[in-house]
Amino acid sequence: MPRIAVVGAGLVGSTAAYSILHRGLARELVLIDTDRARAEGEAMDLAHGLSFLKTADVSVRSLEDAGGADLVVLAAGRNSLPGETRMDLLADNAVRIRTICAGLKRWSPRPIVLVVSNPVDVLTELAWRELGWKGRVLGSGTSLDTARLRVLLGRDFGFDPASIHGYVLGEHGDSEFAAWSTVTAGGLGVRDWPAYDESKALRSFERTRAAGYEIIRRKRATYFAIGAAVGVIGEALLRDQRSIYPVSVPLDGQYGLSGVSLSLPCVLGRAGVVQVLEPKLAAAEKAALLRCAEVIRQAVSTVAA
Ligand SMILES: NC(=O)c1ccc[n+]([C@@H]2O[C@H](COP(=O)([O-])OP(=O)(O)OC[C@H]3O[C@@H](n4cnc5c(N)ncnc54)[C@H](O)[C@@H]3O)[C@@H](O)[C@H]2O)c1
Repeated sequence: MPRIAVVGAGLVGSTAAYSILHRGLARELVLIDTDRARAEGEAMDLAHGLSFLKTADVSVRSLEDAGGADLVVLAAGRNSLPGETRMDLLADNAVRIRTICAGLKRWSPRPIVLVVSNPVDVLTELAWRELGWKGRVLGSGTSLDTARLRVLLGRDFGFDPASIHGYVLGEHGDSEFAAWSTVTAGGLGVRDWPAYDESKALRSFERTRAAGYEIIRRKRATYFAIGAAVGVIGEALLRDQRSIYPVSVPLDGQYGLSGVSLSLPCVLGRAGVVQVLEPKLAAAEKAALLRCAEVIRQAVSTVAA
């Protein structure tokens, strides 16, 4: 059974760890945080639930002595304050991600690195440039936004969210877009749903895009849904499931784009990102994807080494 390291054992990291333990994904779960006391407290709290879960060793280590992990979840760095965008975190979190990746470079064998800290696409691109491990660097991307859209559409149209397929793509941030041409339920494209109403569908997406801000305004952080997303992505990777999730990946010619990381539907397996899929997008969706790439590329250029 694998060893998983979570770097940044704050609200997101510890909730992701909780999700990982519930799925029985790890034989060893290692928490790493510059605030060692916080990591120790989280490790104790998590370990005390183990008699109800699949047994795992939960420990706290430093980056230097945690090598040998199969998967590293990067959740270090600060979260948005009310009124801040994810991009406002860039200057602070870029430094942290670079330092952590420099430490990970010394690990052998190479782990799969799942970036969660924000702005996740920019940080995924920085991690990829620092590490250069093909297929082994990805970001949680729009997996969370896609989950939110499925839930909100499910509520609005009266379907189980699990029966709704389709993706929010591009940036995990303000330029993200709903790829409506990928959205289906019961084999019907969204516009053919019995109760379809365009303004209702658009409202579901607007609420999706605003969800992070709305939650932060009320409780100052979001962590349960992203923790669950990390659990399913980790499971797809480590159990070689070949599941498809919209995750942020360094592009290599998809839609004519490269040198930037953003979310497209990806096949995930034990080797990491096994395949990046290019669904047929409507012209407006393709234009939205190119806009996302521009926003992310511009942000990367402000912190590029
Ligand atoms: N991708 C997503 O969908 C998504 C969703 C929610 C939050 N986030 C992001 O996740 C990140 C963490 O959020 P949070 O609410 O857990 O914040 P938090 O403040 O609760 O925890 C962050 C932790 O990172 C630690 N840390 C900082 N620098 C470190 C370093 N160099 N090495 C190791 N640990 C370090 C801090 O000590 C702290 O414990 C934020 O950037 C937030 O925006 C992403």
